[in-house]
Formats: sequence, C-alpha cells, structure tokens
Amino acid sequence: MPLLSVNQLKIDFAETNFTAVNGISFDINEGEILALVGESGSGKSLTALSILGLQPVNAILSGAIYFKEMDLVKKPYPPAVRACKIALIAQDPLSALNPMYSIKDQLIEAVKIYQTKLSKQEVYQLCFDYLEKVGIPDPARTLDAYPHEISGGMRQRVMIAMAIINEPDLLIADEPTTALDVTVQAVILELLKSLKKTILFITHDLGVVAEIADRVLVMKHGDIIESGTVYEIFDKPKEDYTKHLLASVPVL
Ligand SMILES: Nc1ncnc2c1ncn2[C@@H]1O[C@H](COP(=O)(O)OP(=O)(O)OP(=O)(O)O)[C@@H](O)[C@H]1O
Ligand SMILES: [Mg+2]
Repeated sequence: MPLLSVNQLKIDFAETNFTAVNGISFDINEGEILALVGESGSGKSLTALSILGLQPVNAILSGAIYFKEMDLVKKPYPPAVRACKIALIAQDPLSALNPMYSIKDQLIEAVKIYQTKLSKQEVYQLCFDYLEKVGIPDPARTLDAYPHEISGGMRQRVMIAMAIINEPDLLIADEPTTALDVTVQAVILELLKSLKKTILFITHDLGVVAEIADRVLVMKHGDIIESGTVYEIFDKPKEDYTKHLLASVPVL
C-alpha cells in the first residue's frame, strides 16, 4: 500500500470561479522521492499545502488524500500531530525562521510540540544531534546563533533539521533549493537524498529532478499530464510540454 494516496483531488476558488487543481490522482510509496514539476501557477504548491492541511482558507477541496488509512480531506489531523507526521521544508529559510529567536529556541519549540516527555537536557541533545546529522560543523555555536547570523545554506540545513527532528513519515519539500546558489544547491540535494526519507519534491527545474527523484509527475494548468520514472521522462517524454521543460535544462 502506498504511504500517501491522492485521489481525484480538486481545488476550487469560488469567488473567482477558478479551478486551480483539476482532480489529480497519484501515490507516494514508502521510501521514494517523487518529484512534482510544472511551470509557475500549475498548482504544485496548492497540492502540497492541501496534503499538509495548510491550503488557503478560501480554497475548496474535494476528492480524497489517504494517509495511514485516514482521509485528510474529510478529517485532517490536528495541526500539531500532522506537523510531526508530514513535515514541510519551505522554499525560503530566512522567511520561515523567526528573526527574533535563536536557532535553539526554534528547534526546541518544534521538538516540544510532539516529544513532551523529554527533559530539558534531552531536548537540547536532540537538537544538537540533528544539526550534526544535517552536516552543521559546529552545532553548539549554531544553536546559539540567530537566523541572520548564519549563511543561507546553513539556514536551509537548520530548516531540514527542524523538519526531520520528529521523524516524520513524509517530507514535503517545496522548491527547497531555489533560493540557494548552485553549489549550495547541490550539497542540499545530496543531503536530502542521504536522509533516505519519503519525499514529495516540488520544483520547476527538471535539472534538479534528475539529481534527486525516483519518479516524476508533470503538472500543467492543474492537471497531471505525464508521469513516469526519471529515466522514462528524460529519455522518452511523451508530451510537448515535458519536452519544452526538458529543453530548458542546461546540458552538463
Ligand atoms: N488563495 C488563492 N486564491 C485564489 N487563487 C489562488 C490562491 N492561491 C493560489 N491561487 C492560484 O492557484 C494557481 C496555482 O497556484 P500554486 O501556488 O499551486 O502554483 P505553483 O505551481 O506552486 O507555482 P510556482 O511555481 O509559481 O510556485 C495559481 O494560478 C494561483 O494564482
Ligand atoms: Mg509554488
């Protein structure tokens, strides 16, 4: 059985009579990295946010999102629990982190949502261990730092640590490397791959997909128009739209 199963998901906005996502269906299997690609406005982020239960308040969902035999459209998890089962890595780590609080305070906050029985010392140790796990060279110093005091790449590592610290079953990464420069981007992709987690990876960049994904869904105007393994999509794209996306990938 797939870990997550999206069934005829439709997302409407009543006031503009606009259907942003047009009844899409797909599965995510345990342990795979599934890429969702498509041009700006195709409905990628709305799909991801709906899985997290964080869709805009004016969005009307229909269809089903099955996760652990529950339909998240019908009966979403309470937010605190959901945040631990399905975690989000956002595009821009600077705006996702609060500038007023140290990295330590923000990581501790994330741990405390779920792991309520740990002592203060155990929580600190957990934060330290996860910063180490995401390749931060001096976790103690980074824990005491404020977001603006560390580099963009380090901030994205902190975001990843925060997303995985409660060991979620599913990670959703919405353009997690778009805000980073190319060399840092490559390092973060390596890190995400090395986590061996189930990931829904959203990007408009097929070059990134080749680096990281097992399978690809191509989205256009709210529909999934093509899907396949990375090899199939790169080797034998069927749709002109996919060929067009491929044409914009720089040849390395
Ligand atoms: N709250 C909202 N009210 C009305 N329309 C919305 C709302 N949020 C998103 N949309 C529209 O839904 C469509 C899909 O948006 P979405 O953010 O999912 O696109 P995307 O594929 O993630 O694009 P990008 O690559 O630019 O991030 C867009 O046309 C967008 O304008
Ligand atoms: Mg988006």
